[in-house]
Amino acid sequence: MRLVVLGGGGFRVPLVHARLLHDPDRLVDELVLHDVDPARLRAIGAVLEQQASGASWLRVRTTGDLDTALAGADVVFSAIRVGGLTGRTLDERVALRHGLLGQETVGVGGICYALRTVPVAVRIAERMARLAPDAWLINFSNPAGVVTEAVSAILGDRVVGICDSPVGLCRRVATALDVPYSDAWFDYVGLNHLGWLRGVLVDGRDRLPALFADEQALTSFEEGKLFGAGWLRTLRAIPNEYLHYYYYARETLAQLQEQPSTRGEFLREQQEGFYRRVAERPGDALRLWEHTRDERERTYLAEGRAVSGAGERASCDLDGGGYERVAVALMTAIAKNRTSTLILNVPGRGAVSELDPDAVVELPCVVDGNGPRPVTAGPIPEHCAGLMRQVKAAERATISAAITRSREQALLAMATHPLVDSVAVAERVLDEYVAAFGELADLG
Ligand code: G6P
Ligand code: MN
Repeated sequence: MRLVVLGGGGFRVPLVHARLLHDPDRLVDELVLHDVDPARLRAIGAVLEQQASGASWLRVRTTGDLDTALAGADVVFSAIRVGGLTGRTLDERVALRHGLLGQETVGVGGICYALRTVPVAVRIAERMARLAPDAWLINFSNPAGVVTEAVSAILGDRVVGICDSPVGLCRRVATALDVPYSDAWFDYVGLNHLGWLRGVLVDGRDRLPALFADEQALTSFEEGKLFGAGWLRTLRAIPNEYLHYYYYARETLAQLQEQPSTRGEFLREQQEGFYRRVAERPGDALRLWEHTRDERERTYLAEGRAVSGAGERASCDLDGGGYERVAVALMTAIAKNRTSTLILNVPGRGAVSELDPDAVVELPCVVDGNGPRPVTAGPIPEHCAGLMRQVKAAERATISAAITRSREQALLAMATHPLVDSVAVAERVLDEYVAAFGELADLG
């Protein structure tokens, strides 16, 4: 089977490659990496070569031509970062200058990132629809929920969005409860980077109440430390780590404004150093990648941990939730018609009655050769449903702005986002984004 990775020179591609190498089914025998930057492709190619250490059944090919990459694809992973890390730092900095959260996927930073990414993702989907109409698109490109919803207008149900945050949360909760992950049903619902784990069924009984009652277990893992036991008991749910930006908006903003550099600035320097060093010493590519990855994972979500005093990341979390695990599990379930349950971003089709059926939501899906089918979520607490609806409205205005090139829709998205407290500020921020990014000039 041929798997194509768009953004194939990206830093996390070796994780996917490692997962394929260890796949007992050897489902993928040809991996095609596409990237617009040949130097990044060369560097990641060197890492993969060393990682394969002679395993020749998994062929790796690189290309800078999109059509060449897509033709004959069975599955496409999209992990593009439009504007690179320089774009990410501008998304962050412009927002922070105006007293708003500057973050990759949340708030005005996420909206600006989506405004830049949606047109590119849509163009890719159009090429895919022509050149590989039977292929599945597994989208990790952020903001994943927005990009998936925009692309579903072209590819229908053949695009599925994924994220590693929900599965990471479920794993950590299973460990805190001391139950095997595979024995539990995780009642998770939300939008991408805006979801809640509301129950954990084992033998048909919800085990979350027992977790709420056990202070030590409740604060033993990342989300427990981030949100605090009191707030989790009040919510009666464990929120996705990204909800920290909403529930502690003021504190996180203050922390970000105080920090000498943003996440994007830190990563830009780190990543530039990595790609430069690999070009200088290609023989050390794998070692350099491993070292850099460890540092990247250790510092993930540092501002949230600083606010809550959560301290260092637990070593068992440094693997992340494993987005490559979710992606390969999804691909395998579809290609082998092997029924699995995964938390994915798909149109709800009525599974979330509080949102319209076309809205892309993040929730458990049963996946087999026919693709994913979302499992009905049941009534959602008002405070969660309200936030989901408000953020979904902002996401939709963002998509509309990106497709129809409407400044009004872009302003509507920014000004009505729950983390924005002033239309005047939204206007100034939008103006600055338009000035910073050439491709947004027509939204000025
Ligand atoms: C998590 C999220 C991704 C996000 C990433 C950022 O894995 O689920 O959507 O892109 O974190 O990590 P970074 O190291 O780039 O800050
Ligand atoms: Mn994510």
